[in-house]
Amino acid sequence: MRPYEELIVDIPNYPKPGVVFKDLTPAFADADAFAAMVDDLAAHFADHGITKVVGAEARGFIVGAAVALRLGAGFVPCRKPGKLPRTVLRESYALEYGTDVLEIHADALTSDDVVLIVDDLVATGGTTTAMVRLVRASGARLVGFGFVVELAFLDPRAVIAAETDAEVFSLV
Ligand code: PRP
Ligand code: ADE
Repeated sequence: MRPYEELIVDIPNYPKPGVVFKDLTPAFADADAFAAMVDDLAAHFADHGITKVVGAEARGFIVGAAVALRLGAGFVPCRKPGKLPRTVLRESYALEYGTDVLEIHADALTSDDVVLIVDDLVATGGTTTAMVRLVRASGARLVGFGFVVELAFLDPRAVIAAETDAEVFSLV
């Protein structure tokens, strides 16, 4: 068992009844567990020529930035509306517990970029789909997805496959 696996805590009925929230903060707070999750994601994509990791506010920043550093890639944030100061591209999306909007700087990626999307967790695939569309609109080449946790019972792979054939890799 990898050290992060036993540090992911189930919180029933959060943030609303019927949702089991996966709390990764204990795994982020443990130096060995955090290093292992970042290393495991980065190792999988080490030979893919990644130039940019794209991650979504807020938890996607924690894992995404660290994986980017390990890969020798840059990090590009997708942010909640109104947070980025220059011209943005925007996508709305559905969540397991609501809806939201993500934005990316319009000039953050170019057609020369090879992109890995990273997030702490994929549930419905809504956030991921929004990021795929933002990367596509930016003109960059998307090669894969790295998630710490995949809620397979929600079948996010089907949602992602409807958008792209880029590789999906999840640790847990
Ligand atoms: C969480 C998580 C993913 C997303 C996954 O973020 O970090 O980005 O939900 O859910 P989905 O596959 O159904 O889209 P959340 O929107 O809760 O925001 P946070 O990172 O600010 O906590
Ligand atoms: N984001 C969407 N669904 C989630 C869940 N069940 N646990 C943690 N983060 C989530």
